[in-house]
Formats: sequence, structure tokens, C-alpha cells
Amino acid sequence: MEKSKLQPVKGTQDFFGINSQKFLHVVDTAKAIANNFAYSDLLLPIMEHTEIFQRSLGESSDIANKEMYTFDDRKSRSLTLRPEFTASVVRSIISSGLQKTLPLKLFSHGPLFRYERPQKGRYRQFHQVNFEYIGNADPMADAEIISTASHFLNKLGIKGLTLEINSLGDPESRKEYTRALVKYFSKYEDDLSEDSKLRLKKNPLRILDSKDEGDKKLVKGAPIISEFWNKESKTFFDKVLSYLDSIGIQYKQNDSLVRGLDYYSHTVFEFTTDKLGAQATVLAGGRYDKLISQMGGDDIPAIGFASGIERLMELSEDSPINERSVDIFVFGPEFMNKGFELAEKIRSKDIRTKIVFVKNMNKSMKKSLHNHAKHIIFIGQEEIQSNEYKIKNLDSRQEESLSLEELLNKL
Ligand code: HAM
Repeated sequence: MEKSKLQPVKGTQDFFGINSQKFLHVVDTAKAIANNFAYSDLLLPIMEHTEIFQRSLGESSDIANKEMYTFDDRKSRSLTLRPEFTASVVRSIISSGLQKTLPLKLFSHGPLFRYERPQKGRYRQFHQVNFEYIGNADPMADAEIISTASHFLNKLGIKGLTLEINSLGDPESRKEYTRALVKYFSKYEDDLSEDSKLRLKKNPLRILDSKDEGDKKLVKGAPIISEFWNKESKTFFDKVLSYLDSIGIQYKQNDSLVRGLDYYSHTVFEFTTDKLGAQATVLAGGRYDKLISQMGGDDIPAIGFASGIERLMELSEDSPINERSVDIFVFGPEFMNKGFELAEKIRSKDIRTKIVFVKNMNKSMKKSLHNHAKHIIFIGQEEIQSNEYKIKNLDSRQEESLSLEELLNKL
């Protein structure tokens, strides 16, 4: 086979050793938080009908426009590998009748696919942990979801993040604001970047988070969203902020935070870092009160967030290690049977156990120390004859000989 075909596909990666441990540690931590905040697990298919994402993300979003892995199946149905969870969660709530059991808190995690330019913190197959709180229109739900996110990041030991928050207002406020933006940017259309010229036609809000230096200058003079909130939108957002104050969560209001997906209204937020270069957003979410009805479901409010596992792995200072093992050193093929039987007995006590066929004692010992094994049990001629097992504690370096029963009790 051609050598290049034996490499992982561009933008994908394998996780092994410390990386697979870190990955699973992030998932386990998210699961513990989901349990703590009373979420249920929702396991979803990796592909959906393409319309599910086109309708929810908005035809003008970068994702729906140019980043989806879309293909026809053998019966010419257009399918798409999910680029995010929210749309699939909404589809699932509608198709499975879960709309009748509100409110619902749903936790999902797994791989997602976006055809982006790969770089540090940005992949074509990446992974998220995703939290959705469905059926609660109260601003308390916004504060609770942000608190869930904050507990999660704290539990991972990630420090130095900034919580940026904004409100897009209700759909009317958002419409008014969009109109004002179009009026303002149209005056400078010739000076806008090519991307932003397109945004002006399709999704003017997105000009606000343009990375282009020329656009940034124009954005400084643009109308400010808070001036377009109607009374309800302002009251709602003030309540969200006061709930956050009451539980001591610090935030920075950012007028130009609009998020790249069309379905948001009211609260939007991101936890950002300066440690990941251009990929500053570690966790992001917001309220999407109209999405479920837009997709054909009931009129149900919802809010949620997702966080990229690869980005969390980069930032997390915890380095989880596997449970420490008991290594059974077997000194010849004739003792393998005994080693195998002993391993069965130790494993039945739910202890991580390895059988090591020893050819070079020094090398095997070094490897066990390197892998943080806890004990070594030796099985050779002497042990078979005496019917006792020599066990070495790798912390204290002490050795003792024990009967099988004593040994199992000790472990
Ligand atoms: P998003 O901003 O598209 O939102 O993605 C959320 C997070 O996923 C990002 O902040 C980042 O950590 C990670 N992420 C996104 N793209 C990549 C990539 N190419 N490589 C690595 N990590 C990436 C959503 O997906 C919304 N569904 C969030 C949400 C849930 N809103 C409400 N509920």
C-alpha cells in the first residue's frame, strides 16, 4: 500500500498512552459533572439527514456553507457526519417524543467532523462534551448552565480562563440590531474584507468577530447591541448576570460576542484562553429558544454548551495516570500456568494485573517502575517449591513471602 495512505487522514489523530488517558479523563470529569447536575446520557448517531444541519446552523454559517462532510448514500439520500451536537439533540427530542417529558438535561460526547484548515487546537475530526438544558425559559437556567461549565473547567484544574458573555436579545431586538448593522457597514462596503462583504449579505452579525485588521477598525465604530435590546431582553439579561453575581462567577461583558451559529438568541457565552494561539475558545454555548419550533417541534426554550476535548487536553495540567498495577513476573514457560491462574484470582478482585514474561530481569523491573506498578509478584522455581509467593512493594521496596490467601488479602 502507498505509504501516505498509512498515515491518519489530514486533521484526524490517534490517541494512545498519556493522550488516551487524558482524553478519557476529560470525558470522565464531564460525566461526573453531568451526574452532579442531574443530566441524563443521550447517545446519538454520528450521521443525520443533511437538512437537519442546514436548517439549524443556518445556510449562512461557515459550518453549513463549507465545512460539512456531506455524501449521498447508496440510495442517493444526502447524509452528513455531524458537525455539532445541538441539532442532533433537537432532532432526537422531536423524533423520540422526549418533548413530553420536560424539562430535560441531556449529556452527550463523541466525535464531530468539520472540514476546517487543521492547526493546533483545530481538527477535522474533533470531540466534544455537550450539555443541553431543554424546557426552562427562566434566566436561572442560563446561570445554572454557566455554573455547570465553570465547575467542569475547575474540576479539570484549568486556570486563567475568561468568561465572556453577551446577549443577542430576543428575535425582535436581534432583527433591529441587524438592520442597524447593515446600514452602518453598507457605508463602508468597499473597505470590508471579501469575507465580510459576503457576511454583509448573508449574516451581518458575523462581521463583528472578523479577524481581519481592516474589519476590526470598522467594527469599533459599529452600533452596539445593548442599545437595541428591548425591555424584556434587557431585564432577562440583567437577571442572568445577577444570578451569576450571586454565586460569585466572574465574567466580562463583550458587546461583539455573537457566536458563529444562527440559532442563538438572548445569552451567548464563551470561556476563552490566551494559551492556544488563534483557537482561543475552549467552551462555548448559548440560549436557542426558537430552534426546536423552527425544526418542527413544539415551542420549547433551551440553552446549552459544548467544549472541545482536544483543547481541554492541551490546557489541563492534571496528568491522570492509570490505576497502578500488580505485575506478575514469570521466570520461564513452565511457570506460565501458575502465573495465569494467579492473575485470574487477582483480577477477580478488580485489581489491574499484568503478566510479564521475564527474559531480562533488569529491563522488566525498569519497565514496571516506569509504568508506576504498585507490586511485583515473582513466580519461579523457588516459589513453586515453597508454595509461597514473593511480593515486592515498589514504593517501600520491601519484599516478603506469603501464602496465596495472605497474598490476596494483602492486595
Ligand atoms: P462551537 O462554538 O461550534 O459550538 O463549538 C464548541 C467548542 O468545540 C469550541 O469552543 C471548541 O472548543 C470546540 N471545537 C469546535 N470546532 C473545533 C475543531 N475544528 N477542532 C477542535 N475543537 C473544536 C457548538 O458546537 C454548539 N453546538 C455549542 C452549543 C451547545 N450551543 C448550545 N448548546
